[in-house]
Amino acid sequence: MSHAIVEKNVGLMAVLILLVVSVGGLVEIVPLFALSDTTEPAPGVHRYSALRLEGRDIYIREGCYNCHSQMIRPFRAETERYGHYSVAGESVYDHPFQWGSKRTGPDLARVGGRYSDEWHFAHLQNPRDVVPESNMPAYSWLSTARLTGDDTAAKMLALNVAIGATCPKCELYTEQDMANAQADVAGKTEAQALVAYLQGLGLASKQW
Ligand code: HEC
Repeated sequence: MSHAIVEKNVGLMAVLILLVVSVGGLVEIVPLFALSDTTEPAPGVHRYSALRLEGRDIYIREGCYNCHSQMIRPFRAETERYGHYSVAGESVYDHPFQWGSKRTGPDLARVGGRYSDEWHFAHLQNPRDVVPESNMPAYSWLSTARLTGDDTAAKMLALNVAIGATCPKCELYTEQDMANAQADVAGKTEAQALVAYLQGLGLASKQW
């Protein structure tokens, strides 16, 4: 009987649907803020070195995420091609995270160690030189643009705020890290930073 009342009253039905969806959503989302699986670094996952941090920023600046995801789904076709499926604890140092959803190119979550540094430099310079059928754009300017490191320490400081707020067990950057940051990156090419970033992707998962 009461069901008939709800079905005949659109306003009431809308309110009740909203209530159910809200409660359902909260039950699914809120525990994620407290579960150790999602708030603690996965084994072997560490904060980015100064050079990798700069490389990550170049990855974002150049829009690599428009064609590459970093999110391996727990399906056999994915894990056989790429390796261990992605887990939340891998992204605790990523603000913003780079999961992505568009795969014009392959997923990059496990690309670290798959190719040599030289392969990456050649590939970024002109993808067709190493993969003839590739339709990835060339990023040749990265091999000549150099980092100054002027704001590397400031980036670390900003990340400390984000990491500190979301991941109590994460390693924050130390005073020492920030003091050395500029010297660690100044003069390196943007390609070197980007390749350092790529070569570290997914390395931790190899030990799981
Ligand atoms: C327009 C789409 C597009 C963009 C943007 C793009 N890529 Fe690609 N990428 C591809 C395609 C397609 C392939 C596969 C062919 C190849 O290896 O070149 C690929 C392959 C790769 C590979 C080899 C992956 C593997 O497992 O073989 C790496 C590494 C890579 N891209 C890095 C990057 C980086 C870094 C950027 C940003 C600077 C970038 N890509 C931007 C399309 C793109």
